[in-house]
Amino acid sequence: MKEPPKITKDIITLGGKSYQTDAFTNVTPTILEKTTRQLHLIPSHPIAIIKDLISSAFPDFKHYQTFSPVVSTKENFDDLCFAEDHPGRAVTDTYYINQKIMLRTHTSAHQLQVLTEADKILVTADVYRRDEIDASHYPVFHQMEGAQLFETRTVVEDVRKAIAQDSMASSSTIHTTDTTVITPANPKQECHDEAAMLATADHLKHSLNMMVRKLFSHEKDLQVRWIDAQFPFTSPSWEMEILYQGKWLEVLGCGVIRQDILINAGKPDKIGWAFGLGLERLALVLFGIPDIRLFWSHDERFLKQFEPSKIQKFIPFSKYPPCIKDISFWSNDQFHENNFCEIVRDVAGDLAEDVQLIDQFVHPKTQRRSLCYRINYRSMDRNVTNTEINEIQDKLREEVVNRMKVELR
Ligand code: PHE
Repeated sequence: MKEPPKITKDIITLGGKSYQTDAFTNVTPTILEKTTRQLHLIPSHPIAIIKDLISSAFPDFKHYQTFSPVVSTKENFDDLCFAEDHPGRAVTDTYYINQKIMLRTHTSAHQLQVLTEADKILVTADVYRRDEIDASHYPVFHQMEGAQLFETRTVVEDVRKAIAQDSMASSSTIHTTDTTVITPANPKQECHDEAAMLATADHLKHSLNMMVRKLFSHEKDLQVRWIDAQFPFTSPSWEMEILYQGKWLEVLGCGVIRQDILINAGKPDKIGWAFGLGLERLALVLFGIPDIRLFWSHDERFLKQFEPSKIQKFIPFSKYPPCIKDISFWSNDQFHENNFCEIVRDVAGDLAEDVQLIDQFVHPKTQRRSLCYRINYRSMDRNVTNTEINEIQDKLREEVVNRMKVELR
């Protein structure tokens, strides 16, 4: 979805399609603009980095990443067995384009479609929920959905083999606590054979344990716990939590897929599991990002910090204004840029944020080389004054001449 959305009183145009508004319409231009961002498709964005790490734990899964956020209420709710009066349907919780068309609230909205196409799937997408706005909430976030189906007839044997193979391949430690029990409150589906359901659940939890182990590979003794949960489209259902810096963090929801969904997908003889997780929550803790709004920043100082496939701690940048100064001089044979930068650090300390060569030329007669460097001065914690930066710049000019024997221009 790249084209900017258009919104008038009667018509909303989004992704090249037009929709009639009605009494349910509650999307706003600000929200619709977010549909063009698709942070999960920007390779060096933390959201995409987490997504790639997770998908590497499911190497042979078919990954769908470009579905439009505009779905029908049938896809988002009805197909997933949501009750008519489920609170998730409320206009206070969901962004409606009109009574029948909405912005998806979860990637599960695509489950039925993708399960008709493949038995091992991942879906990554932006999802929309009306919510409070603070450092950890934002009305748009990104989710990743995973699902795997087995032949019901052979699932017990298939899972036994798959888990045995993985255990040989990995030696990493993970401490899991699982106190969940199958009770009427979190039941096996009547149509399911008990052994088949238990094997599916085993494979689900095993696969997700392996996935978080990969994600938190720097944590020596990762603590994971499984708790009972409830979703309209899985039964039984669970949530996984991990202990991170002393706090239990809810990472994902999952369960054994409702058989009605598999019947509707044309696969009545299969049994399967599904999970859904929020990428922002994981990215916040893994990258140490203090505010969820930063993910949406257009600031290069945010975006340029990260590299594809690498989890690294966020370096906070100052929101105080910079003070920019240029210095030009005739260079000589001994000149080296690193030495110059060393002097800048010496004189300006942490106030020097950035040093860039912005101009150079060779004098046609003397053959001397002129260099011009731009220095970006900025404090991490206060406003700098022009007077104090001028003093630093004067000192720098003096030191550069003394130490590098260059001639100022
Ligand atoms: N869609 C659920 C959510 O958004 C997560 C989920 C996905 C749970 C798949 C179970 C299975 O909370």
